[in-house]
Amino acid sequence: MGQVLFDYTRQDATGASRTAQAWARVPLATAPAERRAARARASALLKQHNAVLVAHYYVDGELQDLALETGGCVADSLEMARFGRDHAARTLVVAGVRFMGETSKILSPDKRVLMPDLEATCSLDLGCPPDEFARFCDAHRDRKVVVYANTSAAVKARADWMVTSSCALAIVQHLKDQGQKILWAPDRHLGRYIRDETGADMLLWNGECIVHDEFKALELELLKREHPGAPVLVHPESPAGVVALADVVGSTSQLIKAVVDGTASTYIVATDNGILHRMRQLAPGKTLLEAPTAGRSATCKSCAHCPWMAMNAMQGVIDCLEHGRGEIRVPEPTRSQALGCIDRMLAFVAANPASIAQPRRGFVPGLGSA
Ligand code: 13P
Ligand code: SF4
Repeated sequence: MGQVLFDYTRQDATGASRTAQAWARVPLATAPAERRAARARASALLKQHNAVLVAHYYVDGELQDLALETGGCVADSLEMARFGRDHAARTLVVAGVRFMGETSKILSPDKRVLMPDLEATCSLDLGCPPDEFARFCDAHRDRKVVVYANTSAAVKARADWMVTSSCALAIVQHLKDQGQKILWAPDRHLGRYIRDETGADMLLWNGECIVHDEFKALELELLKREHPGAPVLVHPESPAGVVALADVVGSTSQLIKAVVDGTASTYIVATDNGILHRMRQLAPGKTLLEAPTAGRSATCKSCAHCPWMAMNAMQGVIDCLEHGRGEIRVPEPTRSQALGCIDRMLAFVAANPASIAQPRRGFVPGLGSA
C-alpha cells in the first residue's frame, strides 16, 4: 500500500503558522468479485457482533451502502454523533476520520468504538496541537472557546462549546447575543464565514481543510457562466471567494437536502466528491457537477477527495470486527472534560431545532442524515 504526502497549516500558541507535512495511505484497488465477498463478510460480522456502522458521506460508496443496508447510518458529523449515542448497539464501527470516532467514544464510554483505520486523520485536527492551543486559550481568557468538531479530544477538553457545520452559525449567533467574545478554532475559512454572517467578535485560529481549501473562485465563476441555472452548493470550509458565489452554504446533510428539495435540474457542488454517491441515490434525475479545484494545475492534493476519508476500506471494517483492531480509547480526565462542550452543543440543538434551519443565503431548513 502506497502513501501520499500533504502540506497543511499548523499554528502555535503565539499565533504564528508554518507549513507541516502529513501522510495518508492510498487504498488498494480490489476486483469486483473480491469486493462482493468482502461486503458480505463485513455484513455478517456486523450482525454477529451486534455492531452498527456509522459512516460519513465522504467515505467509499460501498461502505455507505453497507451502513444503510445493515441498519446503520450515513450522515454528517452532527448526526453521526447523535446516531452513535442513541443506538442500542454495544459496538459502533465509525467509518470516517479520527475525531468522529473520538466524539462517539466520548459520548458513549461504555460502548466499544472501532474504526477501519485509526490513522485516518484530518488536516484541521493536525493543525491544532492541544498544547499550543491550550497556551493560546490561556492568552485569551476573556473569550469563550468554540471549537469545530474536527479537533482532537484534548482540544475539545479545553473548549466551552463544540460545533459542527450544521449548527455553528446558530451557536455563535447565540453567544454573540449574550455579549460573548469568541476564540474560534481551527478552520479559518469556516470561522471567517461565521464572523461575516453573525458580526461576532471572533479571534480565529489559522487552520484549513486541505480538500476545501483547493476550490477555486475564478474557475467556479466560469463554470457558473456555462450553467446559469445551476445553484452552487458550498461547504463553509471553502475559501471566502467560493462561499461568495454560493446559492446554498451548509453542512453535508444540508447540501444533500438542497439537491433533493431543489427544483433545478443541475447543481454545482463544492465539497468532497464522496458526497455525490448519496446525492445521486437520493436525486437520481439530477445532474451534479463538481466545483473546480486547481483547474489545469490540478494535483493529487486538489482532487476534491479527502485522503483520510479514503483510508476507510471494507477490509478495515472486517479487520476491526474480526480482530478487535482499531479501537478508539479516550483516557480520563480528557474524556469527561471534552464531554462538556459536546453535550452543550447537543442540548442547544435539541432545544433549538428551528434555529439550525435559519435561512442564510438559501441555508436549507432541516437537518440530519439522508
Ligand atoms: P459535515 O459535518 O458537514 O459532514 O463536515 C465534516 C467534514 O469533515 C467536512 O469536511
Ligand atoms: Fe478534515 Fe477536510 Fe478531510 Fe473533512 S474533508 S475530514 S475537514 S481534511
